[in-house]
Amino acid sequence: MTTKININGTLEENPQISVFDHGFLFGDSVYEVVSTRDNKPIYLDRHLTRLNNSARGLSLEIPYDNERFSLEIDRTLQAAGNEESYIRIVVTRGVGDIDIDPSSCQTPNVIIYVTETHPYPRESYENGINVALVSIKRNPKEALNPGIKTGNYLNNVLAKMEANKLGAQDALMLSPSGYLTECTTSNIFFVQGERILTPAIDCGILPGITREVVLQLARENGFPVEEGSWPVETLDKLDEVFLTGTLKKIMPVTRLDGKQIGNGKPGPITQRLMRLYDATLQSLG
Ligand code: PDD
Repeated sequence: MTTKININGTLEENPQISVFDHGFLFGDSVYEVVSTRDNKPIYLDRHLTRLNNSARGLSLEIPYDNERFSLEIDRTLQAAGNEESYIRIVVTRGVGDIDIDPSSCQTPNVIIYVTETHPYPRESYENGINVALVSIKRNPKEALNPGIKTGNYLNNVLAKMEANKLGAQDALMLSPSGYLTECTTSNIFFVQGERILTPAIDCGILPGITREVVLQLARENGFPVEEGSWPVETLDKLDEVFLTGTLKKIMPVTRLDGKQIGNGKPGPITQRLMRLYDATLQSLG
């Protein structure tokens, strides 16, 4: 496995970030995770748009334009020379006083991690995973909007720990007002008969890039898709469930909140969308 770290445009042999960086002290940072095909970034433009939106949400000025990001990512990918890579872009508030006020921070740090990708086990795609409905609520939009992808993932960390305790691979969180939102690093879709349901962005979720592509694929292929506010009772009558995310792609869920979904195997609509999504990735660039 080759890992290369690019900090502010330098490929570091011994990467270091100051303990006074507010990203470290307060989670005051934004980030993106990008995957590759033929070791080239997939949907980089969309990830950079979301990174810039996240930064705007924190009034954080990113010192790179998209061209610079693209260049630095390519250099780092080439230096690592993996077959396929996991790319993580992090922009921190930078070094400042040990004080929550970001105004002492002068220069954001831009870090690009590239490492070999670790695909999820084939078994998970063939049999589906187990997701717990946890007691931890997703951050309310009015507090720390989940639409902003910040380095403060403690909400999700706590949810994941609860899922671990329940023997599940991921956690589904409700919003404080009781609507279904998303999992710790993925969006969620529910299938009832022919209908495909997913929480609307307004419920307080990350606008996932995979979610967006899957919504488009479903619509183009004639599936009725509804984005909305779904109460917890929605879980009582489900035929299929799947998660979407950059690393997971489309991951079938065959156990949710302690109950089996469908016949305990990935359902036909999920499988169809998995094939369509794979074909879409194959067709890129
Ligand atoms: N996570 N919701 C949350 C909370 C996420 O962290 C992610 C992505 C998603 C899916 O978004 P996308 O399809 O754009 O990857 C939804 C990345 C993979 C991560 O933090 O590792």
